[in-house]
Amino acid sequence: MEQIEQIEKQALAELDAAGTADAIDAIRVCYLGRKGVLTSVMRNISQLPKEDRPVAGKKANQVKGILEAALNKALQRLETGAQTIEDRLDVSLPGRANRTGSLHPVSQISQQMCDIFSRLGFDVAEGPEIESDYYNFEALNFPKNHPARDMQDTFFVSDDIVLRTHTSPMQIRIMEKTQPPVRVVVPGKVFRCDSDLTHTPMFHQVEGLFVDQGVSFGDLKGILTAFVHQMFDDKTSLRFRPSFFPFTEPSAEVDILCVMCRGKGCRVCSHTGWIEVLGSGMVHPALYENVNYDPEKYTGFAFGMGVERIAMLKFGIDDIRKFFENDIRFLNQF
Ligand code: DAH
Repeated sequence: MEQIEQIEKQALAELDAAGTADAIDAIRVCYLGRKGVLTSVMRNISQLPKEDRPVAGKKANQVKGILEAALNKALQRLETGAQTIEDRLDVSLPGRANRTGSLHPVSQISQQMCDIFSRLGFDVAEGPEIESDYYNFEALNFPKNHPARDMQDTFFVSDDIVLRTHTSPMQIRIMEKTQPPVRVVVPGKVFRCDSDLTHTPMFHQVEGLFVDQGVSFGDLKGILTAFVHQMFDDKTSLRFRPSFFPFTEPSAEVDILCVMCRGKGCRVCSHTGWIEVLGSGMVHPALYENVNYDPEKYTGFAFGMGVERIAMLKFGIDDIRKFFENDIRFLNQF
């Protein structure tokens, strides 16, 4: 009896480890073949004392059945590649971590920008990406022949519907709906027909608008300085350069001291020591006329900046297109 049990154990263990049809067949021959181990044991049962024969015969037949079934199962497992749960379950394997998603770096920076302005007292609003010519251009004081209206820059949906080329149309939408004081920032997607190392046809801006009685250019400088110091650090100085936008007067572009070389001059700042980060200015009185604000009573400032631009500086990324290739190995780093 012991010998039969030993044979059963051994055969099953060998079957467990067998990985090919040949190996399984060899096991069959070894145990159940004409000269097989179990076969010869069965043959020898006739030499046992008479009273022991039935028990031994029964046991041997049982084991033969078990082995035949196990052989079939092993062959099946090979053919289908399928395994039972028990076969597959290895409680000693290390666990598989669930990978959680995270915010896209552009969303992170956009939120961080809005958070800074929130703490400075600004509301956050969003507006439509498909915009009328009126809000995108007309009400913002773009003359009919302004080059920004050109097909080269603007995606037209129809004659007077466009994909917004900037977040500035929200200045008008907000002022139409609310009376001063207005303090709001507007994050969102914008679209321009443009594509190279530093331009993608879709990118993100954050617009800002502050209108009240007695708002001055000094307030503009103060708020934007506070913003840059919080976004980067308080050693990042600003430079206000006279500029032009149809919807502000006067207008200024803001450069920050190059965050890479701290003003010494490098590739990122084209060896100027400064990097342009935003457009701004005092709201043009023509806009107040368009929204029925009294231009004698109210003044204000506005600004707009590219989120990818700031994100590239913060993270040290040199190609804007990386943000939109959806390569998880790139995105995982943020
Ligand atoms: N809308 C401008 C652009 O996309 C950026 C801008 C400049 C926004 C000056 C403003 C501003 O609010 O005052 O280039």
